Amino acid sequence: MQDLVIRRPDDWHLHLRDGGMLRGVIADTSRHFARAIVMPNLVPPVVTIADAAAYRERILAAVPAGDRFEPLMTLYLTEGTDPDDVEAGFRSGLVKAVKLYPAGATTNSSSGVRDIAKAMPVLERMAEIGLPLCVHGEVTTPDVDIFDREAVFIETVLDPLRRRLPDLRITMEHVTTKDGVDYIKEQAANLAGSITTHHLIINRNAILVGGIKPHYYCLPVAKRESHRLALRAAATSGDVRFFLGTDSAPHVDPLKECACGCAGIYTSINTLSCLAHVFEEEGALDRLEAFASLNGPAWYGLPVNAETITLRKHAEPVRYPAKVETEAGPVTVFDPMFPLYWAVVQS
Ligand code: DOR
Ligand code: ZN
Repeated sequence: MQDLVIRRPDDWHLHLRDGGMLRGVIADTSRHFARAIVMPNLVPPVVTIADAAAYRERILAAVPAGDRFEPLMTLYLTEGTDPDDVEAGFRSGLVKAVKLYPAGATTNSSSGVRDIAKAMPVLERMAEIGLPLCVHGEVTTPDVDIFDREAVFIETVLDPLRRRLPDLRITMEHVTTKDGVDYIKEQAANLAGSITTHHLIINRNAILVGGIKPHYYCLPVAKRESHRLALRAAATSGDVRFFLGTDSAPHVDPLKECACGCAGIYTSINTLSCLAHVFEEEGALDRLEAFASLNGPAWYGLPVNAETITLRKHAEPVRYPAKVETEAGPVTVFDPMFPLYWAVVQS
């Protein structure tokens, strides 16, 4: 047996949904994570500070007694978002970031931004006050191949935006390409990137080889192996600009296993086991804490968690349920396709 003690981690990109799904999945996060940046792509989306305050209360009501968990709220950027509302949310401490979904990029993104010029007054205000923008970095124009969406977004949207507003702090969320990693590394300031657990483990073969595997489908879609290796190198490097955002995104099985399945992979329950495996494979167990627990708070200007968790490597594989049962229906758990030996020791 081998133990690894790290500061309690945070998840800097998480989908908790609402209602029965929220009640079914929240414990898988609050068991291990102290805080999470909660995505606002509900139906309807979390657009105003009133929406965010109400959603925060619903999340807190669903946290199991005994768990201490702080949801960090985000607002969904629309072309009609009011800069004063955003600023008031930031000043009150409720709002930790604003999320940019290009319209049509992913699940529930139809109210997102079509023309970024229309969102400029909000973005200018955010740059002024120091409120970070979280971006789903993919273009949605039909002429761009789905595997190129991230690289084209960097060139045609992100880089021009950074030139126009160099003071705007931007989190490039769920980076999936070497292009994304390289772009972040080239920048001197005000840009960081989150990386998911699953993009460190799967490449696009997982989705397509031997039949279509809907439970490996997410957005941005997993890319070819060279990109996965670049993500692994970035995550395990200790570079403060890269941190964990699981993008754990539960959908009930019938909505995944159908002719037009939803994007999203559910990893909250086994993320830390998977990450310890990956970091050990890369000879970087000593950098897991930076990725999961230190770099994120540094970027978001929040204190590191005082508590620690212990990860233990067992002699026999650790088992997770294949599915999490929720009031909304069953949710399939991410299968990394290798046995897991590390698990969090429950206190
Ligand atoms: O795979 C994904 N699922 N990517 C996203 O960007 C959204 C998420 C969801 O909400 O299901
Ligand atoms: Zn997401």
